[in-house]
Amino acid sequence: MGIIDLRSDTMTKPTDAMRRAMAEAQVGDDVFGEDPTINRLEEMASERLGKEAALFVSSGTMGNLVSQLAHCGRGDEIILGSHAHTFFYEQGGSAAVGSIHPRTVPNQPDGKLALEDIEMAIRGDNIHFPRTRLILLENTHNICNGCPLDIDYMRAVGEIARRHKLKIHVDGARFFNAAVALGVEPKALAADADSVSFCLSKGLAAPVGSVVCGTQDFIDKARRARKVVGGGMRQAGILAAAGIISLNEMVRRLAEDHANAKKLAVGLAETPGLSIDPDRIHTNIIFFEVTHADMKPEQFVQQIETEGVRMLPVGGQKVRAVTHYHITSADIDRALEVISKVMG
Ligand SMILES: Cc1ncc(COP(=O)(O)O)c(C=O)c1O
Repeated sequence: MGIIDLRSDTMTKPTDAMRRAMAEAQVGDDVFGEDPTINRLEEMASERLGKEAALFVSSGTMGNLVSQLAHCGRGDEIILGSHAHTFFYEQGGSAAVGSIHPRTVPNQPDGKLALEDIEMAIRGDNIHFPRTRLILLENTHNICNGCPLDIDYMRAVGEIARRHKLKIHVDGARFFNAAVALGVEPKALAADADSVSFCLSKGLAAPVGSVVCGTQDFIDKARRARKVVGGGMRQAGILAAAGIISLNEMVRRLAEDHANAKKLAVGLAETPGLSIDPDRIHTNIIFFEVTHADMKPEQFVQQIETEGVRMLPVGGQKVRAVTHYHITSADIDRALEVISKVMG
């Protein structure tokens, strides 16, 4: 029996169609703008998100970093969530590389930043203050149970940003999961954002890559920023070819991952010694707590691993599980059987 690996949707391996497309991809030097496959991927991405232009980058982290570098100057401030991936898991690149000052406000349980908290965090014109330049949102929100931010919320933040002449960047590592879960067009969800970075290498199953979308002027700046962080790739059309399959074939199946995550959450909620509210699960990410008096999350994870099920302990009582392309409904049944045996 195979391993059921629920640690992350980054575990996905390229599909057969991707491997074929990669082998056959037409390539050129992308730093010269001459890779036809990358150019095609960038056109497709900007079209899907309703933006003027796009830029292929090596990772979600690079997408967020070059976006911040393009929007902000040295000493500028960004407002972002206290649980934002960019704040938590990207080595503080905003400050370390960009000299950009991060100002966190609390993430609500649904991944939003309260509108009044955003307003309060925006700096006035004062010689003592850094200049607020950017609001950075995350959609879906990883640590907040993969919650999607909806169009109404995006509009409300957009209104604040326009009023204060700020930009909005969306860390949309799982942006298409959000659009699918909300049943909206990606371009409608992206409309209030000045830039969106989305990952091809997570639920969309490509081996490498993310795409940043925005205005032509923003993408020109992001392209320069990509070069200075060493992200100018050459015949990377081999990678972009897989990304094209991601957009053409993998978006439409994301609803399956969401249904499997919900099924897993419902099963976990019925398991004594575990705690989760399945109503809070809308996409492919689940966090639950191991509340059993005699079981630590690390032990739980070790024990299910010996039975072929992998999950990720993430600190405190919490464990994370993420559904993806290689996880079937039958795998969820088996994972729940294993968990019930371990907890029984
Ligand atoms: C919300 C979010 N943003 C950004 C990233 C960074 O992506 P990468 O690992 O490709 O750098 C991740 C990775 O898991 C993520 O979950």
